[in-house]
Amino acid sequence: MLSEQFLQELKLRNDIEGVISSYTPVKRRGRNLVCLCPFHNEKTPSFTIYPENQSFYCFGCGAGGDVITFVRRAENLEYIEAVKFLADRAGLAMPEDGYDDRTAKLKARVLEINRETARFYFSCLMSPAGRQALEYLRGRGLSDSTIRRFGLGYAPDSWDMTLRHLLSKGFSREELAAACIAVQSSRNKDRYFDQFRGRVMFPIIDIRGNVIAFGGRIMGEGGPKYLNSPDTPVFKKSRNLFALNFAKSTKENRLILAEGYMDVVALHQGGFGNAVATLGTALTGEQARMIAQYADTVVIAYDSDGAGQTATKRAINIFGEIGLKVKVLSMTGAKDPDEYIKKYGAQRFKLLLDGSSGAMDFEIAKLKAKYDLETDEGKVGYLKEFVAFMAGIRNEIERDVYVSRTAEELRVEKSTLLLQISHIIRQRARSAEKKQARDLSTFAVDPKDRLDPERSRNIRAALAEERLIAILFKNPDYREHILAQIAPEEFVTAFNRQVFAFMCGRLKEEKSLDMISLSAAFDEAQMSRISGILAAASGQNFTRAEADDYIKVIKEQAGQKTPRELAEMDEEQLKQYISGLVGKKPKSTL
Ligand code: UTP
Ligand code: MN
Repeated sequence: MLSEQFLQELKLRNDIEGVISSYTPVKRRGRNLVCLCPFHNEKTPSFTIYPENQSFYCFGCGAGGDVITFVRRAENLEYIEAVKFLADRAGLAMPEDGYDDRTAKLKARVLEINRETARFYFSCLMSPAGRQALEYLRGRGLSDSTIRRFGLGYAPDSWDMTLRHLLSKGFSREELAAACIAVQSSRNKDRYFDQFRGRVMFPIIDIRGNVIAFGGRIMGEGGPKYLNSPDTPVFKKSRNLFALNFAKSTKENRLILAEGYMDVVALHQGGFGNAVATLGTALTGEQARMIAQYADTVVIAYDSDGAGQTATKRAINIFGEIGLKVKVLSMTGAKDPDEYIKKYGAQRFKLLLDGSSGAMDFEIAKLKAKYDLETDEGKVGYLKEFVAFMAGIRNEIERDVYVSRTAEELRVEKSTLLLQISHIIRQRARSAEKKQARDLSTFAVDPKDRLDPERSRNIRAALAEERLIAILFKNPDYREHILAQIAPEEFVTAFNRQVFAFMCGRLKEEKSLDMISLSAAFDEAQMSRISGILAAASGQNFTRAEADDYIKVIKEQAGQKTPRELAEMDEEQLKQYISGLVGKKPKSTL
């Protein structure tokens, strides 16, 4: 068995895009990349690379998997050989045994410590000792339900109150130091003290629902204003985003990126549950990719000061590189979203957000700069790109404003531009439809499906199972919600059952769900199917309620008896079975 840590390192150092592009040229298409499939002959690319979960899937031949599966196929290697191949490529040494277990255990302990600490901080906030902190948060306009939802807390103004509480819960000082909840004194190695003292606390929660770190704000003046957990065995600043655990479940296809904790909390309270923030550092490529996993548009809502604007430019570049649509919010009259909402209200912020006209101007200016508008050639080039860009804007009124302006500016007929735009919109809709039909039929119903023979006979259940698998993969924090309702045994088709059981097993052990861990357990053909399942759900977000719908479908189908089974029932069983079916008519959500 290879250690978890090694596989994660391997994955990190072997970006799937980089590996595949060393075999065949890849092209960006939206958030994904496409190329001609190296595994079958084709003239138009149907091989898709998904940077969001580091997988690939070919809609033409159904090959799919993670970076290891790719190398296995491309180089014709066994699993372990492919791992060695990639380790060599990245200059990684193959690991010794025994290493993994210790770190895995420590990680689990640190997560327990964090959870208990968050509980403790919250109870402190609600106790008399936390009155000032509670007043501070209320004074900043936070409602009690917001405070509760974010699990905000108060770290007592004491050298060791948190430490003593956690020791009483059975954690050791060394463990607490590893979690960076306690700090070892540099002068006296036997002395430990609390990392956070006299601060309002913001727990940082990952998409699996684990408390992984904290940020603490000082209440008065003084510094530092915010103190953040340093990197720990369970936390890397550069790989997490504040409030993504909430934001990922909103139905919006755009996320708002703000600069700070307070902005995000205020935004969520104002009805913008799709806001996230980096954790006191500049945006990283990893964070940008995380955002791309849940949205196709990001609205940058950084502070309006100089530093904020510089950071905005940087962020635009990073998002641009991974193909995400970027909008920029330009606020006037307030420093940051928190202040803006407090001053002008959430409704006005919504207008700002929907307009984000500054962003549009920004994009148009960027386009223009590419061409020399003094020449006819430049004009044509610009207008071509302009109409393609406009076709992506849904709001007709908004579109009209820009089209009118550009028509006047370049002295062309507005109606010609509009005609072009509607032509492109129709064309895109048609190809989107075609693509969807193709995606769905790829492995839709194949009576000779060897991988999952029950699939074609139970297609409704199988589709629901596959959706549920994709939902759990994207939202590991739904696990309790999902597992409370359905067990792998209840799955109708054997293959999906096996995948689901594997995922549940990993989650129970507090391990991450990703392609590289699946590829250690499933063979090439199985990985292909799994990639297909995820590809079919790419770019979509799902709520818990939707998971419920799919669970219902699986259960209904699982309960259905074959004619033979029916024939063997006695009167009473039959009556019960039939009354069980009444009112359980399959919904047409699938
Ligand atoms: P800001 O100073 O803009 O904070 O820093 P804010 O969120 O508006 O805070 P309030 O409104 O004054 O309470 C933005 C972010 O930079 C990080 C934090 O993550 C903060 O949310 N930061 C700031 C630090 O990590 N340390 C600091 O000392 C200051
Ligand atoms: Mn602020």
